Amino acid sequence: MLNENKENGFDVTIVGGLGHVGLPLGIVFADKGLNVCLCDIDEKKAEIVKNGKMPFIEYNAEPLLKKAIENRKLTVSLDQNSISKAKYVIVAIGTPVDEYLNPKTRQFLEFFDDIKKYLSTDQTIIIRSTIYPKTCEQILNLLGDADWNIAYCPERIIQGYSVKELNDLPQIVAGLSEKAIENASKLFSVISPKIIKTSLGEAELVKLFSNAWRYIQFAVANQFYMIAHNFGVDYDKVRHAMKEGYERAATLPTAGFAAGPCLLKDTMQLSSFNSNNFMLGHAAMMINEGLPNFIVDDLRKRYDLSKTKVGILGMAFKADIDDIRDSLSYKLGKILRFHGTNVYYSDEFAKDPTFVTKEKLIEESDVVIVGVPHSVYGGMDIPDGKEVVDLWGIFKKEK
Ligand SMILES: NC(=O)c1ccc[n+]([C@@H]2O[C@H](COP(=O)([O-])OP(=O)(O)OC[C@H]3O[C@@H](n4cnc5c(N)ncnc54)[C@H](O)[C@@H]3O)[C@@H](O)[C@H]2O)c1
Repeated sequence: MLNENKENGFDVTIVGGLGHVGLPLGIVFADKGLNVCLCDIDEKKAEIVKNGKMPFIEYNAEPLLKKAIENRKLTVSLDQNSISKAKYVIVAIGTPVDEYLNPKTRQFLEFFDDIKKYLSTDQTIIIRSTIYPKTCEQILNLLGDADWNIAYCPERIIQGYSVKELNDLPQIVAGLSEKAIENASKLFSVISPKIIKTSLGEAELVKLFSNAWRYIQFAVANQFYMIAHNFGVDYDKVRHAMKEGYERAATLPTAGFAAGPCLLKDTMQLSSFNSNNFMLGHAAMMINEGLPNFIVDDLRKRYDLSKTKVGILGMAFKADIDDIRDSLSYKLGKILRFHGTNVYYSDEFAKDPTFVTKEKLIEESDVVIVGVPHSVYGGMDIPDGKEVVDLWGIFKKEK
């Protein structure tokens, strides 16, 4: 047990503790017996979580959350003072890019300026948010001349499956001092099967390279899809033929929208860090972000879109979750509407009063476009005579 901290204190306070990264992490720590405080500014989510409910989909998280709330291992707080009561302060707030795709580093530093009064040198401060390289050093400068313990422990989970992955994935640990690295390693040893210690620069690049690598892999698949489609060949069949018994092609992804709050953002952070000299990253962005336009341009060859009803099946950015952040389904819908198309949206998990059911969407639409391959769509029948744009190949009978 780590708890040797102040009376009525916490082992860990997670700032941004009700977010997609902070909340599952807090739940998993609490499940291991630590006293965890989830500090956030979102009153609505705080109410939901206090009642033992998850504000978004994370598989297997809710029973652990409920138990931790009942056992008083997990506290929800909207009061920044909870930061001063913890031995470990983990920061998991969002780190977006601006409208020019540059990281909003200043906003992150202003946040530290804001919470500075609650921090002390006997705490270990762990940055969990994905940061622009050298941000930890800037935080140290901002906090001033003292023996601060600042570590960087990037999150590498896949959204929706954090509870499993937090217990399975090795944890990268880096820091600005030996003590910070030692303390952060001790904390993460409670949940992680392996600690990988790296330099700060290595950890920063591990995180950004990982997301850029995935984003580029998806772009390769999407470019192949477009080439095959223009050539009148089914990419999905090519992919299956490539992979069958041929290990070297095993990791080639399906085509599909590469979206969400991390992949593009982190690829652009990396580009920005490298003085905008990241041709592959930019090419990946052009391809992935251009895929909705490709689909619409292709439909325009066969349909007068102003007289066509198109349904987008799946509005979340990823299969089987309810998060719509930066989903390309919306971009697709906007382009279609620009051409005067009557567009229907549907999703199994994301809630919106303007959405229709998947059955109604299929019934009403002349063309059905799969926006995201939620598992439930796989078993559905699309009546003859309706065109289906199915990048992921989920409606294909033979796989
Ligand atoms: N979502 C993912 O799958 C994922 C994976 C790895 C890394 N990351 C990184 O983790 C970070 C957080 O991402 P996320 O998806 O959890 O974002 P999120 O928006 O889901 O969560 C951020 C939380 O921080 C809270 N917050 C904002 N400002 C605050 C403040 N001043 N004080 C207290 N709380 C505050 C918000 O209310 C929200 O609950 C980002 O840097 C992201 O790039 C995300």
